[in-house]
Amino acid sequence: MSNQENGLSNDIQSWPKLELPDLLYTDTIQEIHRSIQNDWDSTRRSACQTAAGRALWKHVVNDPLAELLAGETSLRTAYEKIKKDRLNNAREISGVILAVRTLWFDSKIEAALSSFGDGAAQIVLLGAGMDTRAYRLSCLKESNIFEVDFPEVLQTKTTILQAASGSTTENQHPIMTAKSLNRVAADISENDWLAKLQTVGFEPKKNTVWILEGILYYLTHSDAVEVLKIIANNCNLSHTVLLADFMNKQSTTLCSSVFRFYCDWPEQLLPSLGFADVKVSQIGDPDAHFGLLHDPLNLFNKLRSLPRTVQTHPDTGTPCCRLYLVQASGSPNGTI
Ligand SMILES: C[S@@+](CC[C@H](N)C(=O)[O-])C[C@H]1O[C@@H](n2cnc3c(N)ncnc32)[C@H](O)[C@@H]1O
Repeated sequence: MSNQENGLSNDIQSWPKLELPDLLYTDTIQEIHRSIQNDWDSTRRSACQTAAGRALWKHVVNDPLAELLAGETSLRTAYEKIKKDRLNNAREISGVILAVRTLWFDSKIEAALSSFGDGAAQIVLLGAGMDTRAYRLSCLKESNIFEVDFPEVLQTKTTILQAASGSTTENQHPIMTAKSLNRVAADISENDWLAKLQTVGFEPKKNTVWILEGILYYLTHSDAVEVLKIIANNCNLSHTVLLADFMNKQSTTLCSSVFRFYCDWPEQLLPSLGFADVKVSQIGDPDAHFGLLHDPLNLFNKLRSLPRTVQTHPDTGTPCCRLYLVQASGSPNGTI
């Protein structure tokens, strides 16, 4: 089947070539990425893999720093998967979930900030990894950003961005678009991360958007629920918006040694913890599409047409692996 026949856009036929920036080949950056590949566990390395996905979907996701933060190994691995999918005329090109997820979070962050009125807010990214929203989203200009992740991830990110600040290539020169940025080294499965946030200026009474992108399923069930409860408690103090992605049970079987927490019905779990206004979208839904999922027969559109109670696809016998994009909110006086 040709790309035209299976509904893939011209964008995909003319996929940008993999051209690695010179800065990736400097001694400092090479040494950092060698150590990431050799010394980090798969959970920490996932930060570079998601950055690689954004870098390779640069025709739809604007993240010019992603290549440097991803590193050569992650970029080449992701590129090979895309190449293979394109050669096979696959209906879903590797990384499309990540591209849609990124664009969904970007659009919901902007909408949440406008719902607060003046745009002045706090944005907390739990498991921030190599996220660069503080440098790439203009809607954050009145917002204070807090990135939380393991110490080595945040230290490495800071070192790479410092190295990039000496770059003469304009779009690889990090310029912050947010009002402020604080990095908070913490393990969110421990109980001190909220206190750590407060020591660098997080104010529980200030409007806050919580971004849990690609993080919940790395936690155990009890840790994930505890994190969500802590955020829900903040709904009693300030206007709070939670943006998070949840795997269903079947999705965790894709890598059962790494993925732990799952939730088949976030619209039931989140209100039980104190959130209101829960909205659940699936990849391919009208608000989670971004023109990237035209083919009605692609995996995501097929899944969306099945009731969510169905665990095994009736046509293929394969598990129904779903990623839910979830927005919830709360405020001291009821809904926002
Ligand atoms: C898949 S990456 C997602 C990174 C980023 N949110 C993004 O979308 O690009 C998962 C991130 O969660 C972090 N992480 C996993 N478990 C964590 C924990 N217990 N405490 C803090 N960070 C954690 C990892 O280090 C990694 O950076």
